[in-house]
Amino acid sequence: MPSIAEIFSPANMANDEQLKRDLYTRFSLLGIPLYYVLPLYRAWASDAGRTITSNLGTAMILYMLYKAGLQVWQMVRPSTLQVYCHSEKGSWALVTGSTDGIGRAFADELLNRGFNVLLHGRNKEKLVRVQKELAGKYPRRTVDYVVADASSYDRVELNVVEKVKQLPGKLTILVNNVGGVNTSPAYCAFKDMTAADIDTQININSRFPTHLTSALLPILHENRPALIMNAGSAAGNLGVPYIATYSATKGYIFSLTRALAAELVAEKWDKDIEIMSLLINNTRSAGNTSEMPLFTIDAKDCAKGALAKVGCGQIMVHTHWRHALQGGAFGLIPENMVKGFMGPEMRKRKDEEEAKLKGQ
Ligand SMILES: NC(=O)c1ccc[n+]([C@@H]2O[C@H](COP(=O)([O-])OP(=O)(O)OC[C@H]3O[C@@H](n4cnc5c(N)ncnc54)[C@H](OP(=O)(O)O)[C@@H]3O)[C@@H](O)[C@H]2O)c1
Repeated sequence: MPSIAEIFSPANMANDEQLKRDLYTRFSLLGIPLYYVLPLYRAWASDAGRTITSNLGTAMILYMLYKAGLQVWQMVRPSTLQVYCHSEKGSWALVTGSTDGIGRAFADELLNRGFNVLLHGRNKEKLVRVQKELAGKYPRRTVDYVVADASSYDRVELNVVEKVKQLPGKLTILVNNVGGVNTSPAYCAFKDMTAADIDTQININSRFPTHLTSALLPILHENRPALIMNAGSAAGNLGVPYIATYSATKGYIFSLTRALAAELVAEKWDKDIEIMSLLINNTRSAGNTSEMPLFTIDAKDCAKGALAKVGCGQIMVHTHWRHALQGGAFGLIPENMVKGFMGPEMRKRKDEEEAKLKGQ
């Protein structure tokens, strides 16, 4: 039987009949398709083939360097956030879900950069407390608040819109931050979810920000230039087990942001309103205390990173290089492998939570 080296030797490759016989002897029936694939191999191995593939390789490397360069540029380029601080009567930012976590960090950062802030939450006492703390820290700014339970079906976003209309100044920034899993248990098999929990997650993460953005869009346009930031999650791209509804609502947010960005272009409003969606991964907050070594960031870094991306021209942005690195790595790993390690990790979190809840 001919060896593989003998079969693919230059002399054998030049002799069609000999090659066909050797392939059949060595690989039996599999030798026949192999024989018909060989012209492709020959074309690839020819001088012209090598020139084309090496040029293609160079083009691929240049493209990857360009993409990496773009990521680095986005990290270091100056933010254009200040263009939204343009009203003489005071420019306002509305941050939904701003009594804790990333929302509170956004409020703090925006006050620090000259904006007045309208806080939003569901708990009046907590809102008053945060208002006092932030107003004490930034005495030259105005901090106000509005109460609206984002999980409700009662068009509560209209209260927020009414409050915005009464502001002494112009709303120029909307940060749709409110969201999270927000039901207990946080990790739950999809088949075991109650209808009420499914509705709560959809309302907080998708329904409320959709209605609010739709109602505020004309105001933001009137107050142009204006900015909309939507808090997304890596879960919206990956599809994470045991938080399936939450993952789906965040996928919706990405889709809504892209569609709205396209509609702003169609309406010729894209120079007036900038819109972006934040690709947030594990971030320490009231709602998330789990740690992922290397890839967990603080809420403050998340808000700072997001504001640094303003004006970068991208719709989907990572807020921190750690998350960009993690997102890039996930993009390179085959989807089945990602599912393979995500499943046990999420199952572990679910089991730990179940044990904790039973112990209470
Ligand atoms: N932290 C992460 O690892 C992570 C990762 C990816 C994406 N994100 C996204 O980032 C955003 C902020 O997350 P976070 O971790 O900072 O959340 P968080 O710490 O749980 O804070 C959520 C904020 O929203 C408020 N809120 C919750 N339910 C509400 C409701 N029904 N009506 C009105 N306000 C309500 C909370 O108010 P109370 O103080 O009353 O609870 C709190 O101010 C969310 O959209 C989340 O999906 C977070």
